[in-house]
Amino acid sequence: MQIRKVTAEDKPAWVDLRTQLWPGADPERLKEDAEKLLNDANWAVFVAEHEGKTIGFIECSIRDKAPACETDRIGYIEGWFVAPEFRNQGVGRRLVQAGEQWARDKGCIEMASDTTTNFPSSPAAHKALGYQEVKRKFNYRKLL
Ligand SMILES: CC(C)(COP(=O)(O)OP(=O)(O)OC[C@H]1O[C@@H](n2cnc3c(N)ncnc32)[C@H](O)[C@@H]1OP(=O)(O)O)[C@@H](O)C(=O)NCCC(=O)NCCS
Repeated sequence: MQIRKVTAEDKPAWVDLRTQLWPGADPERLKEDAEKLLNDANWAVFVAEHEGKTIGFIECSIRDKAPACETDRIGYIEGWFVAPEFRNQGVGRRLVQAGEQWARDKGCIEMASDTTTNFPSSPAAHKALGYQEVKRKFNYRKLL
């Protein structure tokens, strides 16, 4: 398994994984956004490849603010996905390490991320990788 920077040739497989991560999103938009990311120096995308198959990706950006962060140049995990059959084998960790190293090389000393209830495995995975939860949003409802 290798982790490497995405290339234009990866686009179909990468977009397919993006669709799995964001199933509710417009497929055309997911494709267009991927094209833009390929050419944006403020973003980095790494893919995990196993026996010629793209099995995961991470998309990172540089943001100028994020909750609880103290600097104005923050590496940010925008998208992170590993195909279900390859989870819990360290692929996600290696993708995050690649994103963090890219952010370090860009001069960042902080990395941030977010998640939603759509991704039940995400909080534990973030925690295992050293990310502290800094903000939590609760929404309540009661049927009357
Ligand atoms: C989150 C995700 C990318 C992690 O990828 P992965 O390849 O399974 O991650 P790893 O195997 O490298 O695990 C990294 C760490 O997180 C922990 N972890 C991962 N999934 C976990 C889970 N469901 N419950 C508890 N811990 C978990 C692992 O134990 C590991 O910690 P360790 O090295 O101390 O044991 C993957 O589960 C995924 O694609 N989930 C669906 C999409 C998603 O939630 N993306 C994030 C949205 S913000």
